[in-house]
Parts: sequence; structure tokens; C-alpha cells
Amino acid sequence: MRAKLPPGPHSPRLAQSRRWSRDPLPFLEQCRARYGATFTLRLRHLGSWVVLADPEDVKRVFSAATDDLGVGVPNLALRPVLGAHSVMLSEEPEHMARRKLMLPRFHGERMREDAGVMTELARREVRAWPVEQPFRLWPRMQALTQEVVMRAVFGDDGGRLDRLRALLTNLTETVNDEGRLRKLAIFGPRWLERSRGWRQAMEPVEEEVLAEAQRRRAEGEDGRKDAVSILIEARDEDGSPLSEKELRDELLTLLTDGPTSSSLAWVFERLLRHPEKLARLQEEVLAGEGEAYLDAVIKETLRLRPPVSVVVRRLLRPATLGGYDLPAGTLVAPCVYLIHNSAEIYDDPGSFIPERFLERRAAVPTWIPFGGGARRCLAASYAEQEMKRVVRTVLEEVELKPVDAGSERVSRSAIAFSPAQHGLVVARPRAPEPVAA
Ligand code: HEM
Repeated sequence: MRAKLPPGPHSPRLAQSRRWSRDPLPFLEQCRARYGATFTLRLRHLGSWVVLADPEDVKRVFSAATDDLGVGVPNLALRPVLGAHSVMLSEEPEHMARRKLMLPRFHGERMREDAGVMTELARREVRAWPVEQPFRLWPRMQALTQEVVMRAVFGDDGGRLDRLRALLTNLTETVNDEGRLRKLAIFGPRWLERSRGWRQAMEPVEEEVLAEAQRRRAEGEDGRKDAVSILIEARDEDGSPLSEKELRDELLTLLTDGPTSSSLAWVFERLLRHPEKLARLQEEVLAGEGEAYLDAVIKETLRLRPPVSVVVRRLLRPATLGGYDLPAGTLVAPCVYLIHNSAEIYDDPGSFIPERFLERRAAVPTWIPFGGGARRCLAASYAEQEMKRVVRTVLEEVELKPVDAGSERVSRSAIAFSPAQHGLVVARPRAPEPVAA
């Protein structure tokens, strides 16, 4: 057993950060090829990560007690966008208290109740798409997933929050700007928070979100069950409500859902390059024959193109992982991307083969697009339900064709990875008569 951190690239921190910000996925592959399933990356502003690509280690991390693990920040854009009080960035016991507060809104009955709204919003969106003209799916999916999450957070606002919608779209564009992302990797989150362009995008969103929360507080909740009501009514152990800052951070954590839209764009990017799989799915959907293949398509897309490539935890006690004795304080990073792209776990891991998930279960530690353990994505089932509803509706409504026959490259955005051409397609309405929900 060695007490030092596992080996990793020798290049200076700045060079590793540049590489991580420009092409993280080839960087991860190269490190695994050179150093094996456990290696150390040294990144500016993010710290040194012991990257874990062996499922046994990943399982150990995800099954550790909550008290043994603290927060690790996987992405420099998170803190400026979500804020330090976000459930995603808060330590125990606050983390678990907030998580328990929010979970019911995105699970069970409340989740199932939203299925109809998801379909309705998807249908409305698809019917507004250009006909027989090239357009990019990713921004359309961003608009749609934003609308779904606005409903979950604020309920039906009847268009009253249109200014907030526009401001959130602008914020997404600002945070995904390539030049800004590159500078963020070098100068860090404080630089971003102080920069004028960022503040101009962020501050009006905060004002608008808090104004709405105050309006709802003043109105009284009257039995409403959306996320803002839950947060407004929440009381700490000493009976005090959430502060403005806490409210802002929790609401922004929910409102800036990036991964669902890029995953949806990838579902279609992959299906359109595999016409026989698209045909099989189409048949299942149009015949109303259950959801087994649809489920497998979603699972396979999240395996092959996971929107989040690593999750990070801080060890609060020493642990042995990958054969290394790691001291308390070490940042460990279960690597979603490398686990999903391992030939020891999946046959032909680079190919899109939904059929594999008709035969095997998609589960921790070999299928981890939503992370795992006590900090697993709190809306994982919700996001899967949403993806299924959207894919089904798109297939019912339109026939899609790719503009270019070749696959789209993977390109990095602030929170997720998207198709480089943003899912460039042409749509043609499938049937003149609408299909019943
Ligand atoms: C395909 C869609 C999505 C993917 C792939 C995804 C992925 C993730 C990942 C990887 C994490 C970190 C997990 C970890 O550290 O172990 C996470 C956390 C989280 N996600 Fe998602 N997410 C998705 C959709 C959503 C949506 C729609 C929402 C809410 C509207 C959401 C809310 C959250 C929250 C609140 C956390 C923090 C949970 C905690 O720290 O306890 N996610 N998500």
C-alpha cells in the first residue's frame, strides 16, 4: 500500500486545466491508457482529483456513510450559478435536510402527475418547429426542459414569468459561451462572479426569482405544492424560514437544469445515425406496445453520452481506493465517462446499442449518469420520465432527418456535453391529425 496519491500527468496545473477545459474526454481516455483505472488530475481552482474508473471503487464511494464524504465541486460554473447554499454544494446535515425537502416534488405521485404536462408541453413545442427546414434541436430542447422545470418550480404562471424565461435563456447562453468557459478554467469562479457580462446576466435572474418568491409569500400558499411553495413553507430546526440567499440558491439549482436538454438532443442525434434502431423504436411507440425499447434507448444514450463526466467527493476519513491509502481531505472523482466507456464492462462500448439494456440492468456502479449514493441526482426518475415523454411525443408528431449523414462530434458546454452542431435536423409533420395523449 502506498500513502501518496496515484500517478497522473506531470504537466503543470495550468496546462492540465487547459486540457480539461478544452477536451476532457480524450484527456480522461489518455490518462486511463497511461496510468490505469486510478490516476490523479491536478486542476487549477478545482484541486487534485483521484479519478476512479474501477466499478469496485466507485461502489465503495457511493455506498460510504454520509458522514464520511463531503462536497467536491466537479465543475467551475456550479458555484457561481447555483450558489454556496445549493443542496448540491452544501455539507451535512444541511444537505440531507434540503434533499428530503425537495425529493417528494420530483418522485412518486407528484412526479407521475407531471407526466401529462410533460407531454402537453412537448407537443406544443414540437408543433412550433420549422417544417422541412434545418434547425437545431438542442436549443429547442433547452426551451422545452426549461418550461417543464418552470412548471415544477412555479406551477402554471400563464405567461406571467415570461421575462424570467428570457433571462434564464440568456443566462444559459452566457454560461455556455466558449471564450468565457476557457477563461473560467484559468481565472476561476471568482473572476466569473466579478465580470460585468456575467453579472449582467445573473443579477436580473436573481431579482426576478426572488420577486416571484416574495409575491407568493405575500399571496399565501393556499395548498399549492410546487417547489417554490415547499421552499417558502420550509422551516429550520429553530423555526426560521429560508433566507433570501438560501431561497435564491435552491431555486436556481432547480431552474438551471442543463443535462436533460443535451441528453434529449443526443437521443435524436444517435437515433438518426442508426435508422434501424429508430425504426424499431418508432414501431414500439406508434403501436402503443409498452416502453421497453424506449427505456433502453434512453439508458443507452445516457451511457454513451453522459452529460456529466465525473462526480466529486471529499473524503472526510481516510479510505483505501484503487490500492492507495488516501488521507482525509482527498478529492475522489468516480468517473462516469470512463466507467461507461470501459470494454471490460460493456462490449463495443463506443457503439450505440440500446439492445444491451433489454438484457442487463442499468445500475450503480456500472451505469452512473446520475451519480450515486446520498448525493445521487435528486430528479433522476423525473428526468427519465421527462425524456421518455418528450421522445415519444416527438416520434408521434414528426419525422426527423439529419442534415448531415455523419455523426456529430461531442462538444463541451458549461454543465453538459452537447452535439457539436447542436443536433441539426429537418422535421416533417407525421400525421395531419393530432395523436391522442
Ligand atoms: C438527464 C438529466 C440529468 C442528469 C444526467 C443529471 C445528473 C446529475 C448528476 C451527475 C448529479 C450529481 C450526482 C452525484 O454527485 O452523485 C446530479 C445532482 C443533482 N441533480 Fe441532476 N441530472 C439530471 C436532471 C436533473 C433535473 C431535471 C433536476 C431538477 C429539476 C436535477 C436536480 C439535481 C439536484 C438538485 C442535484 C443535487 C442532489 C444532491 O446533491 O443531493 N437534475 N444530477
